Amino acid sequence: MIEEKLDTLVTLVDESCPNLKNRAEFDNFKASISGPRGQLTEIMKSMGSVPKEEKPAMGKKINEAKQLIQKSFDAANNRIEEAELVSSLGAPIDPTLPSPDEAKGAIHPIAQVRDQVVDLFHRIGFSVAEGTELETEYYCFDALNIPSDHPARDMQDSYFMPESLSISNVSKKTDEQYLLRTHTSSVQIRTLLEEKPPIRIVAPGRCFRRDTPDATHSANFHQIEGLYVDKKVTLTDLKATLDYFVKQVFGASAKTRLRPSFFPFTEPSFEMDFYSPDLGKLSNKWLEIMGCGMVDPEVFKSVGLDPEEYSGFAFGMGIERIAMILQGVDDIRYYYHNDIRFLRQFSGIKQ
Ligand code: DAH
Repeated sequence: MIEEKLDTLVTLVDESCPNLKNRAEFDNFKASISGPRGQLTEIMKSMGSVPKEEKPAMGKKINEAKQLIQKSFDAANNRIEEAELVSSLGAPIDPTLPSPDEAKGAIHPIAQVRDQVVDLFHRIGFSVAEGTELETEYYCFDALNIPSDHPARDMQDSYFMPESLSISNVSKKTDEQYLLRTHTSSVQIRTLLEEKPPIRIVAPGRCFRRDTPDATHSANFHQIEGLYVDKKVTLTDLKATLDYFVKQVFGASAKTRLRPSFFPFTEPSFEMDFYSPDLGKLSNKWLEIMGCGMVDPEVFKSVGLDPEEYSGFAFGMGIERIAMILQGVDDIRYYYHNDIRFLRQFSGIKQ
């Protein structure tokens, strides 16, 4: 008896569901089956009168019927939901149509500055080189004359990968570790091993250091590296190139100065400061913006170039630092929050 009733009910639900036209019809029908006084509920109540030995088989049958009924309900529910969505939108959705939004999206302020800097160097003959964000100690340190016991490694507190890791497109020796590159200087080595001088490249990219984030530090930031290698490249070339860059970015009246510094991969090494009367609050103050110097003979040796024959200069700058100066931003973290109110200020789109 119960079995037949269940079969009849399953068939009824299966046949009725596709004909339910809207949410109200669906809800009413569902209540008539599985609501407190629904047909399925009534059948389940009658389980009490089933002899003990038949109960397990009957329980199984009821569960199967419940599942079939649920399946029909789900299908009807989905169909009705979709119809509701389409009617609320007024038309079927065509995802290939252009967006009706006025705002078309914009380039991120950090990417804007990166593109501006790359473009300025492009105009004077530098092309763009790329490395990898996951690096080996060799490219990031050893080949740049930073041996494993050198304190300069500590200055760049790094994210190392587990020793067991092996990545097919970045080869490493057995006794070294992968790390996230701490600076774009690793691209100098990759380029010097791949190309013959004259080499004139800029390498923009993401870098990683174990910094505690504050207003001017982020564990993930961006740099632009520059490298020029040829015969008879001099310090005058470096100074002239950076002067050009600073005047283009910070105004024709800007001045630069080189302060002696130390980097293992350049000799002599400098910090470059600039000073501009056209920078609002920051006008007429010396501001440090990059490290630079003449390529160290040890770097040439590690890539198989003769330091007697070739010379070159290199420089590296933080994109965020330049962006903050140009855009008047006083906390680096704004660049990463993706707060649309912040980003819109640099989008060129009307607010
Ligand atoms: N790699 C250095 C850093 O991250 C920046 C730098 C300094 C790059 C001097 C250079 C250079 O190419 O010549 O702090």
